[in-house]
Amino acid sequence: MGLSVSLWELCGFAFARQVDKRSDSSDDRGMAKPRPWIEAWAPSTLSNIGPGFDCLGMATDGPGDRVRARRSDSAGVELTRIEGDGGKLPCDHTNTAVVAVKALLERVAPGRGLGVELQLTKGLPLGSGLGSSGASACAAVVAADTALGLQAGPLQWIEAAREGERSACGSAHPDNVAPAIVGGMVMIPSLNPLRVVSLPVPEDLWFAVYTPGCSVSTGEARRVLPERVALGDTVRHASRLGLLVHALHQGDHQLIGEAIVDDLIEPARAPLIPGYLAAKVACIEAGALACSISGSGPTTFACSSSRGRAQTMLELLEEAYTHAGVPGRGQVVRPGPGAHVVSRPLH
Ligand code: HSE
Repeated sequence: MGLSVSLWELCGFAFARQVDKRSDSSDDRGMAKPRPWIEAWAPSTLSNIGPGFDCLGMATDGPGDRVRARRSDSAGVELTRIEGDGGKLPCDHTNTAVVAVKALLERVAPGRGLGVELQLTKGLPLGSGLGSSGASACAAVVAADTALGLQAGPLQWIEAAREGERSACGSAHPDNVAPAIVGGMVMIPSLNPLRVVSLPVPEDLWFAVYTPGCSVSTGEARRVLPERVALGDTVRHASRLGLLVHALHQGDHQLIGEAIVDDLIEPARAPLIPGYLAAKVACIEAGALACSISGSGPTTFACSSSRGRAQTMLELLEEAYTHAGVPGRGQVVRPGPGAHVVSRPLH
């Protein structure tokens, strides 16, 4: 009896697998039928945010990248189309979306021979400091996870997306991909094990975010950083980060502004961004709570206590960067959601 139940279950299992396979990849005449696409979106992110170099970032409610994924019959990860990058990004194994999904498969489905096809639509400019490479990686892992039914979860997605960052610039910094997955403002106090802590952002804090018309490679912007920093500077930097966390919890705008100061990283990178110092002075003199570089730049953000004031900061940033010969584009943002699936197949 035991044996017959087992055989029955075995037959039922085999039948179910066969049905799955037919509904997945072939029609009634046995013709190959494409698998359904799953599309995911991941946001642009501000990173560092003053004193939080490599450990603080915020997902914005502005634009982001999209990735479509579908299961394929051949094992491995294939990126078959990129749109919106002006032909600049590679479709091969070095693309951050491919690297991240491969890393995800190695982490959560090793040896299963799974295959996935990806298509990427860039909504973010490259080399902008808005977490463009990270957004592609995050959208890709979320889309691929859903297409393959992996259910890996946020920490695994962040770890995998960090591998995309490592391949893009030589550093697996988490401060774009963690907020891009989790949403809102997050701090990453530990990498091993990975810990991600969400921080509150006051309702009425607004960010003017402007990307001048020049690009800065993250790798280059990391090479200009000092290898050693003085103890006193480190203490000041650490106290500002502590103050910022406290101020966010208090919802104290003035303190938030006081804390968003970066004397370690910004001085080394400011020369890479034409017009940055003038843009910052203009914003601070006009009453911005704070103004700093997002990530490796050139995107510059200024914080204000109302949407209207943030709009004024945006105009000042536009004016300063236009005057410096690098007009770009920007918008006023607030914290936004993390990466998520935006389209599921209709069955
Ligand atoms: N924390 C990283 C850096 C972010 O500043 O190099 C890069 O976008």
